[in-house]
Amino acid sequence: MSTANIISQSDHRNVDAVPEIGCLSIIVLGASGDLAKKKTFPALFHLFKQGFLPPDEVHIFGYARTKLTDEGLRDRIRGYLGKEENVDSEELANFLNLVKYVSGSYDHEEGFLLLNEVISQHESARNTPAGASRRLFYLALPPSVYPSVCKMIRQCCMNQAGWTRIVVEKPFGKDLSSAEELSSQLGELFSESQLYRIDHYLGKELVQNLLVLRFANRLFMPLWNRDNIANIQIVFREDFGTEGRGGYFDQYGIIRDIIQNHLLQVFCLVAMEKPVSLKPEHIRDEKVKVLQSVLPIASEDVVLGQYLGYKDDPTVSPDSNTPTFASIVLRIHNERWEGVPFIFKAGKALNSKKAEIRVQFKDVPGDIFKCRSQGRNEFVIRLQPSEAMYMKLTVKKPGLEMSTIQSELDLSYMQRYQGVKIPEAYERLILDTIRGDQQHFVRRDELKAAWEIFTPLLHRIDDGEMKPLPYEPGSRGPVEADRLLSKAGYVQTHGYIWIPPTL
Ligand code: BG6
Repeated sequence: MSTANIISQSDHRNVDAVPEIGCLSIIVLGASGDLAKKKTFPALFHLFKQGFLPPDEVHIFGYARTKLTDEGLRDRIRGYLGKEENVDSEELANFLNLVKYVSGSYDHEEGFLLLNEVISQHESARNTPAGASRRLFYLALPPSVYPSVCKMIRQCCMNQAGWTRIVVEKPFGKDLSSAEELSSQLGELFSESQLYRIDHYLGKELVQNLLVLRFANRLFMPLWNRDNIANIQIVFREDFGTEGRGGYFDQYGIIRDIIQNHLLQVFCLVAMEKPVSLKPEHIRDEKVKVLQSVLPIASEDVVLGQYLGYKDDPTVSPDSNTPTFASIVLRIHNERWEGVPFIFKAGKALNSKKAEIRVQFKDVPGDIFKCRSQGRNEFVIRLQPSEAMYMKLTVKKPGLEMSTIQSELDLSYMQRYQGVKIPEAYERLILDTIRGDQQHFVRRDELKAAWEIFTPLLHRIDDGEMKPLPYEPGSRGPVEADRLLSKAGYVQTHGYIWIPPTL
């Protein structure tokens, strides 16, 4: 079989017309900022440690406005990399040796021409064969500068023969029209196959498991629909507030920060139909379809909250109407899901920190054990912390009596996959970018469909037509959210708690 045949049959990646080999330059723009220090460089270091960034092929360039030397940048990031367990100092030094720094502005050619020069020097020093060099630009920057930075890259730093890819991260706009404007600005400069819109939830282990679970297990296929499922919750809770990020958060709020992107991506994977294949375009086609089947959000399906003390932050407006908590019911108008509420809940400064998907099944018809009041079957996928999935079941209570009790079938990753290190989301996603796999990145039409769902509600909030209810920090959020949950049909099991297994 020829190489071309092998690629067409087994490779589901979006392979540009250039080889995935040769010298690789990773350029982190905004290199001295928080995202770069806390996420991008640590992810690159992890990839380096695992041999995915071989020193004879790779160079990493930091670019930012701050005047710094190479050593100055290395000093700034060293602390974040050195914090981790078992860091081998020689390995760390070898990694830092790959990092160079270029300073320049985000909207003038001068800095970008210099950047191009240092990248080219690196490429020719490696004797890269023509057409085999790769340039990955990671924009760890606020989206306000995306258009000018992308324009500069296009004008000054394009790879002449091999590929050029651009990684960007939310917020992609504030509503449908601003997001579309940003998309068109970037779309004029780069093709969709060059743009990688990161949503880091798509890099989480259990999120990546969703398609496997749903479509590789016969067990779930006949159950995953309106005939069997009563409701589905997608929940994100944090037990800390917006400390240190109040200024940013107040402009966006919990719906734009978490629900419209992270939770909606999870929703797509839970609710979409089976894709034709694992090709990124087939998967993303199905995600778009389910998003387009979501009905407009009714005001009575929304509870907003703002924790007490949020406005004490001097960077937050004193009359802020920004929600730090939201519970929203989405309804899908299609054959599989009509009548099944999808309840999204996200909040800051709550009583716990976790993210999970909770699929609640309908009651058993003809309940001969009279056990209905004990609770319903639930399938829970705990995304974090303590990755796990468990199925809440009714079983016979062990003993001489014939009585029932709630228990669970439990797959806890810590116990089942002892010694396996679960990769960080950013680590996987950067590797996907290098490999040209866009499966776990958001396509432009997907982003548009996501904004279409939430924009009318966001405008009602921005206009002050809907107001958040106050809640105590450290609580479950406004009690009205629990009422919305029961109104949507969720039946709470009292007295049953899943305890994550320990080793
Ligand atoms: C970010 C949000 O996208 O995700 C933050 O801006 C939030 O507000 C964070 O804290 C949560 O990510 P994770 O991976 O810790 O769940």
